[in-house]
Amino acid sequence: MGILYKDKPMFGFDIGRSSIKVMQITQTAKGSVVTGYGTASFDPKAIKEGVIVDPETIIKVAHDLIEKHLVGHLTTRHVAVSLPNAHSFSRVVTLPKMKPKDLAQAIKSEVDQSIPMPVDELYYDYSVAQTLEDGSQEIQVVACPREIIDSYLLVFEALGLEVTLIESNISAVTRIVVHAEAHDVSTLIVDIGSNACDLSIYDGSAIRATGTVDCSGERITQHIADALGVSQQQAHSIKTRYGLELSKKQDKIVKAVEPELNKLVNEIRKVMRYFADRESNGSPIGQIIILGGGANLPGLSTYLTDRTRVPTRLCAPWNNVSFGRLQPPHELETTLYTTASGLSLVSPQELTV
Ligand SMILES: Nc1ncnc2c1ncn2[C@@H]1O[C@H](COP(=O)(O)OP(=O)(O)OP(=O)(O)O)[C@@H](O)[C@H]1O
Ligand SMILES: [Mg+2]
Repeated sequence: MGILYKDKPMFGFDIGRSSIKVMQITQTAKGSVVTGYGTASFDPKAIKEGVIVDPETIIKVAHDLIEKHLVGHLTTRHVAVSLPNAHSFSRVVTLPKMKPKDLAQAIKSEVDQSIPMPVDELYYDYSVAQTLEDGSQEIQVVACPREIIDSYLLVFEALGLEVTLIESNISAVTRIVVHAEAHDVSTLIVDIGSNACDLSIYDGSAIRATGTVDCSGERITQHIADALGVSQQQAHSIKTRYGLELSKKQDKIVKAVEPELNKLVNEIRKVMRYFADRESNGSPIGQIIILGGGANLPGLSTYLTDRTRVPTRLCAPWNNVSFGRLQPPHELETTLYTTASGLSLVSPQELTV
């Protein structure tokens, strides 16, 4: 299958709630090297409930980004795409060992029963996460409304890009976390985006629990603007520069953003409780890794460590990735590209499932 990979390099394309991120990483003898990357914002109204309702807007922004505003360049028109977490379903089901045909049927009825949508309005896929001692198998199942995927495919067709892989945002993010970080404990991954945060727990073999909470980077900026009596733009630069860390206005800032961050803390506790009660087999969450653009908020890791009592740190996506001759993303943007980089690291084996 290595041939497929060589013949078909691809880049990662992450459509967020308010921005696009693309990145191509090429495997070379010297390891993983970024050949091109970039980001561009769009009006969040272009996407509604996960469905791209205004494809023209996204197509235009993506076209301009790819043609004019990349750092480095893309060498392929093959693309790996991620789907929004809040509108996809991810489950682990345990089934006895059975023939592939029976397995397909069993999964179909599982999807039918456990997802509150008619099965013929969904696309779904599955893979074996692990085989247990008694021979039964844990199967990771993912599903997403057809309406969402079809709206994505339309955009990529218009851009002249060939979609090689579509996966949930969580899978992409999990891949870059595994690529970049040691993994001997169960990890709670928190993707802090512009309008919401997506949570997932990865225990080394499968994604065991997920959640989404409307803790929003945009609202954090708004709260800072209100509390300090400054413009949105100034508030954004205060947020990215000082965040929750020591500054003259630290007390005011922390107090202003606390209600927003509390939502996140509460959701973290909820997902951890669910995991502990239902999925953990007694092993606790060993660490929290934060990523997504909002994770760059200075002081956030320390804040979450204090509030949850679980060691929290920023994902270091570039641990095993080099930028070669390219200028790497700005320090304040390190985690913006986590999903796009995870997508571009997909291996050929994964493509065959
Ligand atoms: N240095 C920084 N400090 C704090 N927040 C930041 C920083 N840089 C970017 N952000 C925030 O990150 C958010 C954008 O993150 P990201 O691009 O991951 O979101 P998205 O992918 O568009 O949305 P989502 O992941 O919710 O679909 C914005 O709200 C922005 O204000
Ligand atoms: Mg995102």
